[in-house]
Amino acid sequence: MQITVRVGDMLREPADLAVLALVEDAPLPALVAGLLEPDDFRGGAKQSLLIYPRGAVAPRRLLLIGLGRADCLSAETLRQAAALAAQKAQDLKVATFALALPADLALAPAIAGQAFAEGAQLGLYRYLRYKTDPYKDVEVTAATLYVGGAVDQAQAGVNIGLAVADGVTLARDLANGPGNLITPTALGEAALVLGERYGFAVTVLDKAQLTAQGFHGILAVGQGAAQEPRFIVIEHGSAAKGVPTICLVGKGITFDTGGISIKPADSMDNMKMDMGGAAAVLGAMQVLGELKLPLHVVGIVCSAENMPSATAYKPGDIIGSLSGKTIEVLNTDAEGRIVLADGLFYAQRYRPTAIIDLATLTGAIMVALGPHAIGMMGTSQELADRLRQAGEAADERVWQLPLWDEYRDMIKSDIADLKNTGGRYGGAITAGGFLAAFVGDYPWAHLDIAGTAWVERATRPYYTKGATGIGVRLIVQLLRGYVE
Ligand code: BES
Ligand code: MN
Ligand code: ZN
Repeated sequence: MQITVRVGDMLREPADLAVLALVEDAPLPALVAGLLEPDDFRGGAKQSLLIYPRGAVAPRRLLLIGLGRADCLSAETLRQAAALAAQKAQDLKVATFALALPADLALAPAIAGQAFAEGAQLGLYRYLRYKTDPYKDVEVTAATLYVGGAVDQAQAGVNIGLAVADGVTLARDLANGPGNLITPTALGEAALVLGERYGFAVTVLDKAQLTAQGFHGILAVGQGAAQEPRFIVIEHGSAAKGVPTICLVGKGITFDTGGISIKPADSMDNMKMDMGGAAAVLGAMQVLGELKLPLHVVGIVCSAENMPSATAYKPGDIIGSLSGKTIEVLNTDAEGRIVLADGLFYAQRYRPTAIIDLATLTGAIMVALGPHAIGMMGTSQELADRLRQAGEAADERVWQLPLWDEYRDMIKSDIADLKNTGGRYGGAITAGGFLAAFVGDYPWAHLDIAGTAWVERATRPYYTKGATGIGVRLIVQLLRGYVE
């Protein structure tokens, strides 16, 4: 989508659809007030009203969108308003729309521009790749954003927002993609495409290479599948000197049947999204490539398919790992932590400033936090605080859980170094405790996105049923914080 920022009076410019975004109880422009019954529109959050002005103003259609109270206004308010506006344009089958922000908006122009672009573009997202009936509707291809001033800053924000939205779109497309097509091999190919496009150094290890190099965790999880596992490394800015090195590690289980500890059939189809962490890593890498951030960022994807079969790993098996630590497998459905163990250990070779993993790791995090927060655990309060702040700024909020030694004791095995489950209670935390055994002394944060990577209905205007692409906006926000 193309977005142009302008200063001026939107109501004087011809348009198929012009959107006035207004805070609660803001006075309406006189020309507009004359078209309404008083009090029909008060500007409450998400209130909207479509008007046909019939020549009273230049645009053919006027949409009023409420932003709610001025003192509660945030980037998220604009993101949601932009999504509603873009969807209205789509419903009305108009290809372009304009939106005017309040002239006295209490948000930095760059922040407002970014939020508008993210909301408008993501609000139009639909996963239609496998609809053979061609999409007949007019597509919304362009928008104009009217601001009170600081056009250049707002346009710079818009450009960042469009890049971010493209990264989220990539993550959503991968996570919505079916397990038969989005295989570990396909994730490796997606990484290679990014490498071509942005000049990243990309390494994709196949099964033979994983065997030769001792990735016993990824190999064990993948050994029951016909699809071969892959370990993927994407490096951005490796030549940059004196910049922080951040490792992003994504869980890439392209389908999680549970393995021999098989899951119930009910909604097992959703387990095609068990590579949502990997999708977020790839999406964030794409945004980095677009924004050319001066950082050294290493994206690591641990990918396998978790299948039951004659060759599958079994409950009771003791397996190795890249680190050399041994793992007693009590439940083959706790596979994410096993593949991540190899990826987290591998990350240490970069002597990173921070290691962050993203994983649809546990049902327990859904029980604990529901669909509105990412679960966070880690070994560095400084990193956790950065993530919490980035989460609030991006509105991909994280909530920290403790990782006390008592929890780590819960995953000690009697006969191996670790066991892969710690029982039902505190399941999200014991999973984090398991991962902690593989990060050494590096500052590390674990993000459990099992509750947030997928929604059954659009809980925000810029979501649709299915993958949310969560993690991309959070990580980009965090990484930009390391640059400033
Ligand atoms: N991929 C699942 C977690 C999950 C559940 C993600 C729901 C998204 C939605 C993970 O591999 C898993 O199966 N975890 C088990 C662990 C248990 C066996 C210790 C779980 O949470 O039930
Ligand atoms: Mn599982
Ligand atoms: Zn899983």
